[in-house]
Amino acid sequence: MKKKILVAGGTGYIGSHTTVELQQAGYDVLIIDDLSNSNIEVLDGIERITGIRPEFVQLDLKDKEGTRKALQEHPGVEGVILFAASKAVGESVQQPLKYYRNNITTLINILELMPEFNMKGIVFSSSCTVYGQPDPENLPVTENAPIKPATSPYGNTKQINEEIIRDTIHAGAPFKSIILRYFNPIGAHPTAEIGELPNGVPQNLIPYLVQTAIGIRKELSVFGDDYNTPDGSCIRDYINVVDLAKAHVVAMNRMLENKSDDKMEIFNLGTGRGVSVLELVNTFEKATGVKVPHKIVGRREGDIEQVWANPEKANNVLGWKAEESLEDTLKSAWNWQLKLRERGIQ
Ligand code: UFG
Repeated sequence: MKKKILVAGGTGYIGSHTTVELQQAGYDVLIIDDLSNSNIEVLDGIERITGIRPEFVQLDLKDKEGTRKALQEHPGVEGVILFAASKAVGESVQQPLKYYRNNITTLINILELMPEFNMKGIVFSSSCTVYGQPDPENLPVTENAPIKPATSPYGNTKQINEEIIRDTIHAGAPFKSIILRYFNPIGAHPTAEIGELPNGVPQNLIPYLVQTAIGIRKELSVFGDDYNTPDGSCIRDYINVVDLAKAHVVAMNRMLENKSDDKMEIFNLGTGRGVSVLELVNTFEKATGVKVPHKIVGRREGDIEQVWANPEKANNVLGWKAEESLEDTLKSAWNWQLKLRERGIQ
């Protein structure tokens, strides 16, 4: 019999790609999502790719009773992947309580419900934001790099979430956990059936860049060219979203099949390659043949100068590696934008 996984936040950007990979690896998926930052049509995209429509419950995971009821009505869940969270850094500064309430209540509810339903493991979406700006000797960052004070309430919720999981496991919880620290996920499924759907004016680089390339935005602002980096713009580790999704399947297998004695493990998910904003714009133009009008503006408050991953632990221990090239990943983001235009969405 197929094993069933709860994908909390499964209609979102990373959640939808992970649902596809889980289904293709032979898992059944139950999605719970309140659709606050996603769209029900994502289920159609998932079904077009895999031929399978995941079970779906529209529900706010802050509602513990509702979540319990959903799990009773959709029995047999063996593990959970928790994506559901608010994730806009700027908004979190303006509305910190929304972030603390959403991101912390949801995790506590899930952790409390897991033993009731005999779930064996949780994969948690964390972020490289927990490292802040690593000291130069700690670049590329390993999982042992110091955790720096968070620079936004969003970042703080990720740190607190990790601590909540650590304390719960330490107290003898009857399940395992794997925390995945994502670097910068970008791109879309190669079929262009699912991808990132930002609300309003995009805050993140790739959605803004592709919207500029297609003419929705006039020009991309590059936030700063006076950083201490080779071309002066910030450096990040951009990881293909399908590669990232696959790591969740490996992590879930690892817990359900008891491949490790550790009850809690942490992995960086990145490519190991740092790319500057200007390099990224150039690579996009070369890969797609489409120009991206851009100008240099001042630095964005709170930006980290440079951070990229040392992914060796994930490579060696999980046996997972980022495979896609940056060129193909950027092409997938562009194809997704073209598909949105075709459908009259954006
Ligand atoms: N950038 C621009 N112009 C833009 C947008 C971004 O130059 O219009 C630059 C930024 O200055 C940064 C890089 O592009 O150097 C990437 O910026 P993003 O906003 O795409 O992503 P961040 O690296 O700032 O990451 C943040 C959080 C992560 C979170 C991620 C996605 O730190 O924890 O956003 O929400 F996962």
